[in-house]
Amino acid sequence: MYSRESTLKDGTRVILRPLEDEDLENLFRFFARIPRSDILIFKDDVGRLETIESWFTNPVYKKVFQLVALKEDEIIAKGTLHKEGLYWQHAAEIKLIVDPDYRGRGLGSQMFKTLLVEGLKHSFEKIIVRFTPDNKSFTRMLDHFGFKPEAVLNCYVSCEETGEHKDLIIASYNLEDWKGRFEFYSLAHNGK
Ligand SMILES: CC(C)(COP(=O)(O)OP(=O)(O)OC[C@H]1O[C@@H](n2cnc3c(N)ncnc32)[C@H](O)[C@@H]1OP(=O)(O)O)[C@@H](O)C(=O)NCCC(=O)NCCS
Repeated sequence: MYSRESTLKDGTRVILRPLEDEDLENLFRFFARIPRSDILIFKDDVGRLETIESWFTNPVYKKVFQLVALKEDEIIAKGTLHKEGLYWQHAAEIKLIVDPDYRGRGLGSQMFKTLLVEGLKHSFEKIIVRFTPDNKSFTRMLDHFGFKPEAVLNCYVSCEETGEHKDLIIASYNLEDWKGRFEFYSLAHNGK
């Protein structure tokens, strides 16, 4: 994927491009702006920002593709297609975070779609996602694409600030279905 400009629902123009090595400090600033409650499922040890940052930047972790959105050179969203903890060749997971100031403008959906396209390019068959049931916008996004919840781990996620426990939902999606939908629409629009 190359760098491309995109316009959000409110007219804000952003750049979407793969993460680069020199983005490290920018990425660090980005994570510092994200409330901890939003990154509960990204790493158990959310008390240490270094741990989170290391997950995203350390090559030991099996990341397939890392996408960032920038507004005036500042990272405002980060998405990852990765295979960490997934041992089957055909499966990958998507993780996504948008800066709270830029949410609700369609950026998350655009990034999610770009990550799904990358999944297709890498010939993955299954994409999985993990989230908590109170995540309304992510749930809505997944509904649009047709992800189906497949498992619920009861009280699996714990919030260090409130001590609250939340369920963790695992949903998956068959990329072949999506490819089929793409082909159908392109045929319909090309009138062939
Ligand atoms: C989940 C997240 C990525 C969504 O990003 P976003 O840029 O706000 O997403 P969008 O603007 O594309 O919105 C997605 C859908 O949710 C809807 N939505 C946005 N905010 C909402 C809210 N507070 N309540 C209900 N629906 C909401 C949008 O209208 C949109 O639906 P539509 O296409 O039918 O209009 C973002 O909230 C986030 O970073 N959360 C913290 C990290 C996280 O939970 N990641 C997901 C698990 S890996």
